[in-house]
Amino acid sequence: MDFRVSPSKIADAKVTVPGDKSVSHRALMLGSIASGRTEVSGFLAGEDCLATLAAMRTLGVGIEQPEPTQMSIDGTGLHGLSAPAADLDLGNSGTAMRLMAGLLCGQSFDSTLTGDASLTGRPMGRVIRPLGDMGALIDSNDGRPPLQVHGGRRLCAIDYDLPVASAQVKSAVLLAGLYADGTTCVTEPAVTRDHTERMLASMGVEVRTDGNRICVRGGQALRGCRVQVPADLSSASFVMLAALLAENADVLITNVGVNPTRTGVIEILQGMGADIRLENPKLLGAEPVADIRIRSSNLQGGAVDPALVSLAIDEFPALFVAAASADGETVFSGIGELRVKESDRIAAMAAGMRELGIRVDESPDGAIVHGGRFTGGTVDSFCDHRVAMSLAVAATIAGDEVVIRDVEPVDTSFPGFTDCMTALGVDIEVLQDVPV
Ligand code: S3P
Repeated sequence: MDFRVSPSKIADAKVTVPGDKSVSHRALMLGSIASGRTEVSGFLAGEDCLATLAAMRTLGVGIEQPEPTQMSIDGTGLHGLSAPAADLDLGNSGTAMRLMAGLLCGQSFDSTLTGDASLTGRPMGRVIRPLGDMGALIDSNDGRPPLQVHGGRRLCAIDYDLPVASAQVKSAVLLAGLYADGTTCVTEPAVTRDHTERMLASMGVEVRTDGNRICVRGGQALRGCRVQVPADLSSASFVMLAALLAENADVLITNVGVNPTRTGVIEILQGMGADIRLENPKLLGAEPVADIRIRSSNLQGGAVDPALVSLAIDEFPALFVAAASADGETVFSGIGELRVKESDRIAAMAAGMRELGIRVDESPDGAIVHGGRFTGGTVDSFCDHRVAMSLAVAATIAGDEVVIRDVEPVDTSFPGFTDCMTALGVDIEVLQDVPV
């Protein structure tokens, strides 16, 4: 399946985007090991979270989904999960795989975690090592999935200095810490998204945070609660980008999660001259939300502050497109983690934007994007949802039609992306593969 996008005029609009992927995964996992019922609204019914939903059901958790965005989870308590009858297929989702590894290494039974071609190529040593230090036993394919997680192991607390800024690794260690003797602590080299800590706290777990160090005592029970999932800022970024690049657009995105560990994208774009304002801020349970108003802006290049990288880790494909439309050069540094996401996002975005006439100089952990004018052309998504959506938005200001190849993975995080773009006035068409 491909997208064909023609140069478009963005209309003034008020839109919503689907629920937050990170919060949706955590609601499923934490709700499953809580006692009592967890009611979830605003759930992201995208393929990544649906893979986690299926995995939790395979582990014996009763989960009803009366509407695509609503779930009622009958938690089993910390020790109530049951041995799965089959391998747990986590599709494209690194978050599901890494967090589940942490959750499952403290169980009494064995389990196997696997996934699609992209996920089985991604590094898991980053969770296997600290979990191994805690006493877990996880076999892998040379540090990559599938992971065989052995149960019945006694876990001991560790004090772990994360070598990479990763919320997935932090969360995996904290989840294993719930099953460990003693108090497990994780120190991050840079702040990463703190949805796990917030949700644990709202389920009654005492989580101690002191600067970049987060600690949790083992054996604490979770209490089921109501989780209202905010709209996903990472998905909202594509709408923000489309509005910024357009001429004279004024777009409002409602009820978006603006947790300060996620808002790097807003800060970076504002630093480039973007007119982005947060309106109507409030708390939705444990998470701050706001409406985001975006007005078309002339963006300026410059050096992106590497201190903001972990706060905008999923938004760099969109930021590359913003940089291509800015005046001058934009220098990205400290973004080496992008090379081990759903694709090598530095290489994938550089290839796509070069194909559309933009100069990009790559380095192992950075890139310089030279402002220019997108031409028409055909580009590859590298089977990466965020690459596909970023290039689709780039196409709205291209000189001619752009075809983006292999866009199926968009459904992992942003079901309804084409409808949302259409509501903004984007001329986007889905081209189905012709059977051979
Ligand atoms: C996520 C953490 C980030 C992010 C991913 C979701 C999470 O990964 O890229 O999309 O929900 O914890 P890392 O922790 O590997 O940076």
